[in-house]
Amino acid sequence: MRYIKDLKSAEGTEITLKGWVANKRTGKGLVFIILRDGSGICQCVVTENTIDQDQFNQADKLTLESSVEITGMVVKDDRQEGGYEIQVSNIHVYQVAEEYPIAKKAHGIEFLMDNRHLWLRSRRQWAIMKIRNSIIFAIHEFFQQEGFVQMDAPIFTGNACEGTTNLFETEFYDMPAYLSQSGQLYGEAMAMAMGKIYTFGPTFRAEKSKTRRHLSEFWMIEPEMAFYDLDQNMDLIESFLKFVVGKVLTQCELELAVIERDTTVLKNIVQTFPRIPYADAVKMIKGELDVNGKNSIITLEEDLAKVSARIDEINAEIVDRETKIATPGLKKGEVNFHVTKVASLREELKDCEENQKNIPQWLQSALNFKDGEDFGGSDETVLTRLFDTPIMVYDWPHEVKAFYLKRSNDSRYAKGVDVLAPEGYGEIVGGGERETDKDLLISKIKEHDLPMESFEWYLDLRRYGSVPHAGFGLGLERLVAWVCKLPHVRESIPFPRMYGRLLP
Ligand code: 4AD
Ligand code: MG
Repeated sequence: MRYIKDLKSAEGTEITLKGWVANKRTGKGLVFIILRDGSGICQCVVTENTIDQDQFNQADKLTLESSVEITGMVVKDDRQEGGYEIQVSNIHVYQVAEEYPIAKKAHGIEFLMDNRHLWLRSRRQWAIMKIRNSIIFAIHEFFQQEGFVQMDAPIFTGNACEGTTNLFETEFYDMPAYLSQSGQLYGEAMAMAMGKIYTFGPTFRAEKSKTRRHLSEFWMIEPEMAFYDLDQNMDLIESFLKFVVGKVLTQCELELAVIERDTTVLKNIVQTFPRIPYADAVKMIKGELDVNGKNSIITLEEDLAKVSARIDEINAEIVDRETKIATPGLKKGEVNFHVTKVASLREELKDCEENQKNIPQWLQSALNFKDGEDFGGSDETVLTRLFDTPIMVYDWPHEVKAFYLKRSNDSRYAKGVDVLAPEGYGEIVGGGERETDKDLLISKIKEHDLPMESFEWYLDLRRYGSVPHAGFGLGLERLVAWVCKLPHVRESIPFPRMYGRLLP
């Protein structure tokens, strides 16, 4: 069987492709089928004169998403995506599809989410999934070449790892159990056996949160390394992200183009990631410390002014174009041109209005931010807008972070690190050096109101050959969302599970 991605090697020969009708146009005596087969898309031209009449009629009647087998000559055509088209000599129709619910016209997000099983076939979703696939492969490649052993943590767990507020409770025979929030605690045990390990598995967080960053089920990559401290951990995170994003840039050029990703910021991945202590990050958010001459509060105020000006401009242009559209006798081509422009102006207007609404809220929360608190989504946005590479914020107030983090030299802080992605994306990685002091851990477990008996096994790791160690967790969907610049993580996973969404 041949695939569209391999057309180049088949130039000048006759081949058979199997796939679905992504689009169809007809001309006089001609049917143009845009075929997609999962590996790519290509135009297949059916000419009435050169094919059996019955087959031509079948081609003519094909509906969107009909399934077909097409045989024909591969011909170079630089106007086509991929550079080739097929001159069809034979068509076999598997099925003429019923009227496809997702037509070309714009649909609301809820409709698309309800039809996620079909939406995945669209060009944009295809590209996102290809990028996700490259990211996953690059993650394995990186850790494998660095000598890590991939090991799996259980999904049924008897203890909480990341606090008790967002646990999915379930039942394990007659015992209460939870779906894993993180494989880390098991990762620590495995690192003591293997030196350097990474887990890659599904993770569950019950958060009745409808933000663009939250999924109830997401995939997390959690490396854990014996004999690593916080600095070595940050070095590893940085080279890891450089590797993975670098791979996407070289392997997914077409996919990035399909989703119209401006790759400028992604290419900055080669630059050194700033490492910022929490205390400084707080000052940056509140506008008390500038970043390369940029002040958070002034930047936000300027952005708000810019957005407001742009909204006025867009509204004026829409009025102008609509007047033109209404002019009697305007050529059809020109009308279409203005209609398309107006549609894209309205899209931009929506974004601008969203920003106009958000910026004052970010501003308020930045000004009101209290030293010692955890960052909220808007604080991360304010901070990351000052940078155009990922940043690493470390040394967090120990009260706001998990029980297992090692206390910093300044005991108000813990050796945690969060990596925040630019362009407003915020946290994609959370990690840190682990507490090795058994008594401190015990007091933390009590402080967090966690049941001591389910942590006895974990405390054993501090009884038998305890060593400094560190690790981190990367949220796969958060990384995919940033790399693809998605408005919401829901598009970064084939079938998202989130508050209010269990189907399809
Ligand atoms: O910061 P978190 O909660 O850290 C941990 O779970 C640690 N045990 C990891 C470790 O050190 N081994 O989660 C890690 C990452 C976040 O930075 C984020 O990228 C992702 O997991 N994440 C989510 N992604 C989507 N939806 C959610 N609800 C997420 N919660 C966390
Ligand atoms: Mg975190």
